[in-house]
Amino acid sequence: MNLNLEIELASIRMDNPLMLASGILGICPSLIRRVAAAGAGAIVTKSIGLKAREGFPNPTVHIIKDYGLINAMGLPNPGVDEVLEEFKDQKFSVPVIYSIYGSSPEEYSNVAKKLLKLNPVAFELNLSCPHVREVGQMVGQDPEMVYKVVNLVKSSVNVPVFAKLSPNVTDILEIACSAVKAGVDGIVAINTVKAMAIDIDLRKPVLGNVYGGLSGPSIKPIAIKIVYDLFENFKVPIVGVGGVSNWKDAIEYFLAGARAVQIGSGVLWKGLNIFGEILSGLRKYMQGHGFKRVEEIVGAGHK
Ligand SMILES: Cc1cc2nc3c(=O)[nH]c(=O)nc-3n(C[C@H](O)[C@H](O)[C@H](O)COP(=O)(O)O)c2cc1C
Repeated sequence: MNLNLEIELASIRMDNPLMLASGILGICPSLIRRVAAAGAGAIVTKSIGLKAREGFPNPTVHIIKDYGLINAMGLPNPGVDEVLEEFKDQKFSVPVIYSIYGSSPEEYSNVAKKLLKLNPVAFELNLSCPHVREVGQMVGQDPEMVYKVVNLVKSSVNVPVFAKLSPNVTDILEIACSAVKAGVDGIVAINTVKAMAIDIDLRKPVLGNVYGGLSGPSIKPIAIKIVYDLFENFKVPIVGVGGVSNWKDAIEYFLAGARAVQIGSGVLWKGLNIFGEILSGLRKYMQGHGFKRVEEIVGAGHK
């Protein structure tokens, strides 16, 4: 049977529906090429801000065997100007989506405008970022702020804009609704879930930042529910992310309504082979169930 793994996401054509999630493997052209060669259909960069940031003090990662990991990196990145230098004249064989963050709508839009020089195929807005005027609140926790960020970035660039939602909110559909009203081209769900761990011998928090964000297998059921609900309520394309570590996880996301899935912690556990493994599992599943195109599986779990 002739299988077609290609998908279209907003106006982006991808050879297959697997993407590297933001923040995994940093921001580096040579690593992007290695991930593309391993089979990813698209790549999302680590989140880029206006200014360089060192990130939080060590330890920044705590592994919880079989469940996932808690990270508190604190958005370390070299800043947009350095990224422009490093990426200028670089060509990639797969679509590269630039993840950006800011503490105000203007900051997001300024970063996006600067990155236009690199001819990005799209932007992903990391909304899990502290918001300047509201101490302790994230941009992605405030529906009005989400509307303003999406609206301003959309009016500043001429490429698709995706909003990456944080699960750390009371009503994620309200946040998604703001993004959709502001004209977002797609939703990415989800970022990490707030979490912490305490060292019982030292009797203090393990992470340098005290708390962080949980990723990996333990957040998959949370993300699947969110993707399912988003699919029921909105027409924009959805990208699922959270705990994908094998082909069955990816299929579950497609059935819930995701058109593509991103892989983050799974790359840290299994290495870059994870892309090839999931693609071959996906092909076998499609053959076994009589699907010719991935698009036929998207949302099929709702019937
Ligand atoms: C070490 C680490 C760094 C991350 N950095 C970012 C980041 O810079 N921007 C972002 O939007 N998400 C970031 N994330 C979140 C992931 O992109 C993803 O949403 C989350 O880890 C859930 O997917 P997973 O279970 O496949 O890892 C990071 C995750 C990890 C584990």
